[in-house]
Amino acid sequence: MKTTKVSKQLIDMLNRALESEHQANMQYLSHAELVDGENAEAVIARLKEIASDEAEHATKFREMIGAYLGGTPSMKAAPAKAAKTVKEILTANLADEREAVELYGEIMELLRKERDNLPYAYMKLEHLLRHVIMDEMEHITELKNLLGEGPED
Ligand SMILES: [Fe+2]
Ligand SMILES: [Fe+2]
Repeated sequence: MKTTKVSKQLIDMLNRALESEHQANMQYLSHAELVDGENAEAVIARLKEIASDEAEHATKFREMIGAYLGGTPSMKAAPAKAAKTVKEILTANLADEREAVELYGEIMELLRKERDNLPYAYMKLEHLLRHVIMDEMEHITELKNLLGEGPED
C-alpha cells in the first residue's frame, strides 16, 4: 500500500463517507422489502437501483482510501433509519441523501486544500468524488419525484 502525505482528517472523512454508503445500500434494500400498495413495483425497482448505485459508491470510496491514499477502508456502517410507510421511507432516505451531498462537498473542499500533496492522485480522486456527488443529486431528484415534490433549489 502507498503512503501519502494527506491528512488523517481526509482519510477519516472518506471513511465516514464509506460507512454512510454501507448504511445507504443496506437501508435501501431493506426498505424495498417493506413497500406495498399502489405503484409498489415501480418504487421497489427504483429503491433497488439506488441501492446498487450506493454499492458502487462504496467501491469508489474504498479505492480512494486504499489504492490512492494508503489508508484502511472501514468495514462499519453508519446507523440506519427505520421506516414503515412508503412516505416515511422516501423521506428518511431523502434526508440521508442531502446529508451525503453536504458531507461530500466538505470532503471536496478538503481535497482541494491538500492538492499539493497529491500531484498524481488528485485528478482521479476529484473525478471519483464528483461522480458520486452527481449520483446523489440524481437520487434526491428521484426521491422527490416519488414523493410528488418539485425540483431541488
Ligand atoms: Fe451514495
Ligand atoms: Fe444516494
